[in-house]
Amino acid sequence: MSKAPKQPAPLAFGHPPETIEFWKRLAREALSLSTPTPFYICSALPIAERIAELDAALVAAGFAQKAKNPKQKISFQHWLSCKTQPVAPLLRWWRSQDRPIEVVSEFELRAALAEGFAPENILINGPAKHRWLPRFEQRGLSVNFDSPAELAALLPLAKALDWRCGVRILTPEEFDPENPQFPTQFGFTPDEAVIALKKLLRAKVRIETVHFHLRTNIPSVAIYERTIGEVAAICRAAKFSPRHLDIGGGLPVRHVLSRSSKVYDGEFGLRSFARMLRQSAKLFPDLREVWLENGRFISASSGVLVVKILDVKERGGLRQLICDSGRTMNAMTSLWEQHELLPLAAQSGKPALTTVYGPTCMAFDQLARIPLPRSLRAGDHLLWLEAGAYHIPWEMRFSHGHAAVVWHDGNGLRHAREQQSFENWWGQWG
Ligand SMILES: Cc1ncc(COP(=O)(O)O)c(C=O)c1O
Repeated sequence: MSKAPKQPAPLAFGHPPETIEFWKRLAREALSLSTPTPFYICSALPIAERIAELDAALVAAGFAQKAKNPKQKISFQHWLSCKTQPVAPLLRWWRSQDRPIEVVSEFELRAALAEGFAPENILINGPAKHRWLPRFEQRGLSVNFDSPAELAALLPLAKALDWRCGVRILTPEEFDPENPQFPTQFGFTPDEAVIALKKLLRAKVRIETVHFHLRTNIPSVAIYERTIGEVAAICRAAKFSPRHLDIGGGLPVRHVLSRSSKVYDGEFGLRSFARMLRQSAKLFPDLREVWLENGRFISASSGVLVVKILDVKERGGLRQLICDSGRTMNAMTSLWEQHELLPLAAQSGKPALTTVYGPTCMAFDQLARIPLPRSLRAGDHLLWLEAGAYHIPWEMRFSHGHAAVVWHDGNGLRHAREQQSFENWWGQWG
């Protein structure tokens, strides 16, 4: 007989009880509206909280909030990272507060325009934009160039359409997180950046911005600080004094653990981040605004995934819950992250080592292997937290359609996207 596997210690995600109650209440409400599982709930409230927290730290460090914009102070702008959570009611809610959006593809730009964002409130990032951006004859966009070839192709348009231009710089702090010995594929190397900035200055376009985005979940403030120092040196070498410093995203997510159970934001303090930014801003004599494009930090906590248990098995001392959603379909991030996974209804059973699976034909399709109450049965619901960033954009349709989405804001809860029908799934074949 095989021995029962050892129970791992319970994981500590640090959610306040009110947060858990908030999501359980919304999940019950969504189920009472006959929302079919699996579904995501996305709420504006946690996003508003994160923004307020970041704003308070930046204002305390001496920045001005954009809306007030006193002349003598440097202000800041949060750009919504569209790709992180491309959810139409989120874009509408964000725009209703007169906030700007950052996009990295043709579809995202079209979504931003369709939702009524003014061109001056749209920032275009990402590689190889020269393939699609010329199709848009939009004046007044903000565009951060990514390569010498892209710049050569787009410079005439930048001039003709009065774009607010910037250059994305690849500093030595930016590398492939899986293979840190290699750089990423983004931006201009420091030497290329100096040449590009000089070219833009000579061309007399509106060159106003220097930009970097390192990667996601930056573990320490010192990494940002060193990067800004390197960017300032490049600006000096090019005799360029930017009005905007765009530091991308990368603030670390909260309440999520790595596979080795490490917290991502353990060494990161928002207040010291804001103070460092205010100090570093002094390296740029004509700086008016710091731009931030945080995705995970702002929106991870704004969503949960609700799944239903369909079948229960027990083998080798392991309980197995087969659900209508899992990693493959709706939670790719479970490959490298651990999120809090909770039963919706109170359970009385003793904990047993349990693997939570999705419905696809892949052993890989696992949300988690953790102790869960023995009392869980087919028909019960589970909540997967922190599903508000990089879940919907990485959703798959592997033998199934995409999930339903419900949206929550100050006006309550409502259906935002239907579960994909067979007709829609198969109808793509013309
Ligand atoms: C240019 C740019 N800005 C912002 C972001 C958002 O990053 P994060 O979710 O780590 O904050 C990304 C993510 O890839 C990005 O590529």
